[in-house]
Amino acid sequence: LNHLLTIEGLPAAHIRQILDRAQQYVTMAEQDSKKVPLLSGRSVFNLFFENSTRTRTTFEIAAKRLSADVISLNINASSTAKGETLLDTIHNLEAMGADMFVVRHAESGAPFLIARHVKPGVHVVNAGDGRHAHPTQALLDMFTIRHYKGDFTQLRVAIVGDILHSRVARSQIHALTTLGVPEVRVIGPKTLLPTGVEKLGVRVFHDLREGLRDVDVVIMLRLQNERMNGALLPSAQEFFKHYGLTQEKLALAKPDAIVMHPGPMNRGVEIDSPVADGAHSVILPQVTFGIAVRMAVMGILAGKQ
Ligand code: CP
Repeated sequence: LNHLLTIEGLPAAHIRQILDRAQQYVTMAEQDSKKVPLLSGRSVFNLFFENSTRTRTTFEIAAKRLSADVISLNINASSTAKGETLLDTIHNLEAMGADMFVVRHAESGAPFLIARHVKPGVHVVNAGDGRHAHPTQALLDMFTIRHYKGDFTQLRVAIVGDILHSRVARSQIHALTTLGVPEVRVIGPKTLLPTGVEKLGVRVFHDLREGLRDVDVVIMLRLQNERMNGALLPSAQEFFKHYGLTQEKLALAKPDAIVMHPGPMNRGVEIDSPVADGAHSVILPQVTFGIAVRMAVMGILAGKQ
C-alpha cells in the first residue's frame, strides 16, 4: 500500500491488517507504552484545507506517537492565500523533505491529484475529500464495531441521515460490505440519499423506526449543510422529528446496540443528548481508537513493521 485514498477496492485482508496493527497500539497504550520509534526521522505534513477537530488532531497525535516530525500547516496563513496552486505547495513541501502528506480538501479528488504528482516514496493519506471518501474514519469505525461486536458476518448496521453529502457514509458502506456485513441499511429522506445507492449493496429505508428494527449498530450522520449549495434544506426541527435518534426510537434496535457518530454532532438535530451521552453511545471511544488506527495506517504506508 503506497497511498490510502479510498476504501473502495481495498481488499478485506488490507483492512484487517490495519485493524490488527491498530489493536497492537491500543493494547500498548493500555499498558502505558504509547510511543514507538517507527517513523523517527520522517516528516509528516498535515494539510487541512477544510476544518477539522478530530481527524487533524488524532493524525498529529498518531504521527508524534510514531516519533515522526509533524508539521501541521496553517492553510489560512500559508501562501495558498496568495494564489499558490495546490501542486506548487506540495512540491515546495517536498523540497523541505516531506515523507507523507495527510490531506483534507473540500474538492473531491484533491488527494488523488496530489498522489499522482508526488515523488516516489512519498505517501498520501486522504483525510476527507469533498463528499467522496474519508477512509481513515471508516477504518476507525470498523475498529470500533469489531471492538464491541466481534464478528462482522452476523451484523445488521444502519447508517442514518444525510447519506447524499457524506464521504463518511460512502467509505463506511464500502468497508462494511468488504468485511462481510450481511445487512447494511441506509435510512433517510429521498432527498438525502444518492440515486442508485442500492447498487452499493445496501437496503434503503425512509422510515427511521422501520429501519432501526433489530439492528446491532446505529451510525448517525450530521446534515452536511456546507455541501448543499443552497438546496432546500430540511429545518432542524423537522429533521429531528423524523430522523433524530431518541431513546424511544433506539429501543427498536437490539438491546445491546451501539450508537456511533463520526462527529461533529449536532445535538437536537440528528441525535438527542440522552442518546449521545447514554449507555449505548461509543462516540468518544471512536475518537480514541482513531489515534491507533491512524498510527497503523501511517506505519503500514511507510513500510514499517
Ligand atoms: N469525523 C471527522 O472527520 O471529524 P472532524 O471533521 O472534526 O475531523
